[in-house]
Amino acid sequence: MEKEIHQLNIAGTTFRTIIEPFKIKSVEPIHMTTRAERQKILEVAHYNIFFVKAEDVIIDLLTDSGTSAMSSEQWAAVMRGDEAYAGSRSYERFEKKIKEIFGFKHVIPTHQGRAAERILFSVMCKPGDVVPNNNHFDTTRANVEFQGAIAEDLVIREGLDPQVYHPFKGNMDLERLENLIAKVGREKIPLCMITVTNNSGGGQPVSMENIKQVKKVLSKHGIPLYLDACRFAENAYLIKLREKGYQNTPVKEIAKEMMSYADGCTMSAKKDGLANIGGFLCTNDDHLAQQERDLLILTEGFPTYGGMAGRDMEAIAVGLEEVLKEDYLIYRIAETHYLGKHLEELGFPIMQPPGGHAIYIDAKAALPHIHPSQYPGQALVSELYLTGGIRGVEIGSVMFGKVDQETGKETPAAMELVRLAIPRRVYTQSHIDYVIEACKKVWKDREELKGFKITKQAKFLRHFTAHFDMA
Ligand code: F0G
Repeated sequence: MEKEIHQLNIAGTTFRTIIEPFKIKSVEPIHMTTRAERQKILEVAHYNIFFVKAEDVIIDLLTDSGTSAMSSEQWAAVMRGDEAYAGSRSYERFEKKIKEIFGFKHVIPTHQGRAAERILFSVMCKPGDVVPNNNHFDTTRANVEFQGAIAEDLVIREGLDPQVYHPFKGNMDLERLENLIAKVGREKIPLCMITVTNNSGGGQPVSMENIKQVKKVLSKHGIPLYLDACRFAENAYLIKLREKGYQNTPVKEIAKEMMSYADGCTMSAKKDGLANIGGFLCTNDDHLAQQERDLLILTEGFPTYGGMAGRDMEAIAVGLEEVLKEDYLIYRIAETHYLGKHLEELGFPIMQPPGGHAIYIDAKAALPHIHPSQYPGQALVSELYLTGGIRGVEIGSVMFGKVDQETGKETPAAMELVRLAIPRRVYTQSHIDYVIEACKKVWKDREELKGFKITKQAKFLRHFTAHFDMA
């Protein structure tokens, strides 16, 4: 793939140095720890990074969700929050901004992405149905399965190989989609989803052409298309960088075009909403919208606030505008790529090419001496914390390994990844340089790293609460 060129154009002058496009107005001190302290903290946490207190983390790359820094305009908007139970002005502003960017007819506010998913699938799915997606995110899959439906991942083959270069590794495999429809029948597929960017598949973008083609296939059968739009702005910007014909199109136009092929979307505003909480569900279907609002009232709240305070909706309305600013997106993608490029230079095998919000290290390839049954991703997460107080997350056999409840035998996950997700507008380049320096030390010592065993685990979602020990 051609090398991506990130350049900043300020008043007609081109700069190669991409600066953080903000000044810092309010700061949160980082509590420094020593290696000896971190060793003790890890032991107390049973080597599970989820048990480590945030104040004991120097650079927190656990997630990009809900961890964004809000702008002064967002904080100002918070003060405008209209907390009326019904008919809040904040909802009007929220709805107007979403309609302007996303273009859907109905906007249903929820407290976060998974609440939108639960309502959508409750209304659209019945037991035995099949929902295709490029890759379902875990909460999306869980919400599909909770309805007794089957979640099918149909990402292109290249999307499953960390080392292969492809500009749009999040694309859906059209042939597999056609085959699935032919096999199970249209009546079993209530909707199809595409996740932009494809988080479970390494944060990889989906091309406009692919969205268009998926829609074409679905239209033949009358199947609606929904986008899981959490990182829609990053996807739109990667289309601008990588897809022919979009280099001169404003990102907002690209985002609108992406949405124009869909019948609705789910959104976690904790990502590209640049907010700390919130989400929404959109649809063009009046009948579905009515059913969704009825369910919303049952568990989230009245349709003009759903699961949020008025001030949250205000922050999101401003955040959705700011996230589409190209100065911001240049910096955002350049920061992720900067980390990726340096880790690659150190020798780390990473998911190629870097996507929008995170770098995914292939721990199986980085630590070939640790068998997947001894969790190489866990070993790397632990060492990153020990060395630099950096918190990443294992996305491998700890998270997705399948344990046979009768025999206790475990089947490893397809990949052993460690995700370093970058919170939006939170860390500067020197923070990222510090992460790179810590990674360099980890890489040097990699052959000495040891695997782990699980000493205590829950029956599901075990990664959050499992206890570990050195194998
Ligand atoms: N869809 C995708 C693609 C996501 O990445 C997430 C959350 C959700 C849906 C659910 O949204 O958290 O607001 O309920 N991803 C977070 C992460 C948790 O760390 O990647 P939510």
